[in-house]
Amino acid sequence: MLIIAEELTKIYRRGQEKIVALRGASLQISAGAFVFLVGPSGCGKSTLLHLLGGMDRPSSGQLSVNGFALEKASEDQLTRFRRENIGFVFQFYNLLASLDALENVTLPLLARGEQPRRARLVAAELLEQMGLASRMRHKPEELSGGEQQRVAIARAIIGRPALIMADEPTGDLDIANTEAVMLLMHNLNKSMGVTFVVATHNEALIGKDDRVFELHSGELRQR
Ligand SMILES: Nc1ncnc2c1ncn2[C@@H]1O[C@H](COP(=O)(O)OP(=O)(O)O)[C@@H](O)[C@H]1O
Ligand SMILES: [Mg+2]
Repeated sequence: MLIIAEELTKIYRRGQEKIVALRGASLQISAGAFVFLVGPSGCGKSTLLHLLGGMDRPSSGQLSVNGFALEKASEDQLTRFRRENIGFVFQFYNLLASLDALENVTLPLLARGEQPRRARLVAAELLEQMGLASRMRHKPEELSGGEQQRVAIARAIIGRPALIMADEPTGDLDIANTEAVMLLMHNLNKSMGVTFVVATHNEALIGKDDRVFELHSGELRQR
């Protein structure tokens, strides 16, 4: 199992107010799976995704990802865990505006200490495979939403993470680009064996072989 979560809870505190965002969520996800986390806005999808990716900590519960016990990790260990194991894809792409597509995609490799020249070669090859060869020197504002999201997916996958977390990855895209991005993620899942966990409120994205977990007001169940 790549992910084993047991009884995860998350309570946010805003002043005196307590918001229970997750109520004892347990799940297991095997390596190579393509998993959807669905449910209406505010049900806890992003919260759970952030916990599974080591971006935030549970209020209680146990969580192991790729053999690593996240709830026991220090901040430094969590940072290293994310860098080595996780790629993130966001609704609004989160590319660095001052860098072109190629430079954005090299960043995770540079963060790992890879030689810049070697990083650029690997990034260029990946962008070519994704049909973005003619867009490499473009800044994000010179790219369409669909192109930006494909660059963001390249950036997420270039370091060969075990796991990619995508939070509403098609939330800002039209139907044609939504289909292109979903196809790309499914192809990468099959060709590279990367596990995907995709949070969405859009059930139309779900493919017939995908696994689905539903969240309702912080309660998780497998469909
Ligand atoms: N940082 C935060 N501080 C306080 N409340 C939060 C925070 N993040 C999320 N919440 C609350 O937790 C609940 C779940 O939010 P979220 O995980 O973002 O849901 P979803 O991604 O399904 O829309 C919501 O009630 C939301 O308002
Ligand atoms: Mg969300």
